Amino acid sequence: MKKTLIAGNWKLNGSLAANEALVLALRSGLPPTVACQVALCVPSVYLAQVQGLLAGSGLDLGAQDMSAHEGGAYTGEVSAAMLRDFGVRYCLVGHSERRQYHGESDALVALKAQRALACGITPIVCVGETLAEREAGATETVVKRQLAAVIHVNGHCISEIVVAYEPVWAIGTGKTASADQAQEVHALLRAQLRAATSQADRVAILYGGSMNAANAAELLAQPDVDGGLVGGASLKVPDFLSIIAAAG
Ligand code: 13P
Repeated sequence: MKKTLIAGNWKLNGSLAANEALVLALRSGLPPTVACQVALCVPSVYLAQVQGLLAGSGLDLGAQDMSAHEGGAYTGEVSAAMLRDFGVRYCLVGHSERRQYHGESDALVALKAQRALACGITPIVCVGETLAEREAGATETVVKRQLAAVIHVNGHCISEIVVAYEPVWAIGTGKTASADQAQEVHALLRAQLRAATSQADRVAILYGGSMNAANAAELLAQPDVDGGLVGGASLKVPDFLSIIAAAG
């Protein structure tokens, strides 16, 4: 049975001093045994620092993006192998902020997932509809299209990925999907994975979008919600600890 995964996404936040304070407070606030898996997806420049801060904690290190290329003349990019050098276990790919502000296509996201898997990093593949798409009744079409691209390129090892359903309208807005809304989409994604692999039940499907201390337990109680991808609340230690406790 897979463990619940709670991943914090720090986004474009942090400093050497703030990261140290946050991770030390998190470590000292955690119970001796944590029932779920916990990962911190930090800005690339802080990977080395946070790798050191997490040493011996049982918490995993994650990155927020990576290059689809193996190496070469791609100024500014960070490769999966470089992330691996710093002990990165997870990498977000296709976060809606990358799709929206950096024009990442479904095809590019699928290639990033492929490169991550080739380097022993678990890609957390993010999918989700905008408010306009939801209101137009297109949620199912959009999330299935996004996941289909990743399945198409990674068919043989698709059970090695993690999926995160993050409705764009719920990100950073304080508007969480209801537990029923989340479960409905997660069940669709699970069915799509089942059609691609006999191991679909091994794939963790996380919910993300204004998950917080108050709503985490109800969301995580849904049968197809296997964890959370937490933005703002992962920067507030008491809130993040409450979410981790709700996952236990
Ligand atoms: P918030 O939890 O701040 O809504 O962000 C969600 C998210 O985008 C995590 O990747």
